[in-house]
Amino acid sequence: IEEGTSARASDRPIVIAHRGASGYRPEHTLESYRLAIRMGTDFIEPDLVTTRDGVLVARHENEISGTTDVAAHPEFAGRRTTKTIDGVSVTGWFTEDFTLAELKTLRAEERLPQVRVTNTAYDGRFEVPTLQEIIDLARAEGQARGRTIGIYPETKHPSYFASIGLPLEKPLVAVLQENGLTRKSSPVVVQSFETANLRELSRLIDVRLIQLLDAAGRPYDFTAAGDARTYQDLASPAGLKWIARYADGIGPNKNLVVPRDAAGNLLAPTDLVRDAHRAGLVVHAWTFRVENQFLPADFRIGADPNARGDITSEYELFFRLGLDG
Ligand code: G3P
Ligand code: CA
Repeated sequence: IEEGTSARASDRPIVIAHRGASGYRPEHTLESYRLAIRMGTDFIEPDLVTTRDGVLVARHENEISGTTDVAAHPEFAGRRTTKTIDGVSVTGWFTEDFTLAELKTLRAEERLPQVRVTNTAYDGRFEVPTLQEIIDLARAEGQARGRTIGIYPETKHPSYFASIGLPLEKPLVAVLQENGLTRKSSPVVVQSFETANLRELSRLIDVRLIQLLDAAGRPYDFTAAGDARTYQDLASPAGLKWIARYADGIGPNKNLVVPRDAAGNLLAPTDLVRDAHRAGLVVHAWTFRVENQFLPADFRIGADPNARGDITSEYELFFRLGLDG
């Protein structure tokens, strides 16, 4: 909200550019983040993994065969391997097996070339960015525009990285401290699917934290063997109260807000937004973008003659349900 306006914060949801302007540039590149800022986003969202030397970099996954040209580098052929990550067997090349200097010799590529066809034109031009480079970019672009650009990082697979001696919390806290970004008022929001990671961060720093919730019934802590609680449990009124002890909000898969039946038809909205607000939590749902459109083309919001079945209408629908971002 602009200073001096009378609008309440709830009149305008926060816009969070998921992986940057990922519909227009290869995701998680400085160019993708820069374009998102120029398009007017409030926050840019880097997914964070680590290098072998403990530097946080932005990739959607630590396995990088689909997001870099690593397979074309004969010097790294011997590093192709298979690992189990959060119970899933994954084959390829992994950021934690590369130093930052090695990773910087790779070019970032479009992860979804069939879906984001125009982004393939940019393949081979961009580097894998570090968190520090992303913060520097946000600061520089923000200063040039006279506004603050926030960073909304997601810690990817934190319990896995801790299990191999490369915990994400330590470098994340260090980078945030070095940049003076350790207060609730700082333009930083950290999100994670893993409760243990967020609870640890809540003990170490005072930035805003968001508990991600998935629509599937997977356990919320991948290392919590035998713990039967699921995302659905976390999304219950009791679960939300528990989240409020360590986090400032939830980041639900949008299907937890407006579910679908088995045939894909939209069902009535759940009480999740209301229950989260009652627990004192903000709600930032994911993800609104053309390639995974939520609404059928003929969808209408009530009797609103202006409602359209495109991504704008999807956004409007969720805004009316009370989303904060
Ligand atoms: O912000 C939540 C969202 O980013 C989590 O899913 O897979 O898109 O990183 P993903
Ligand atoms: Ca993410």
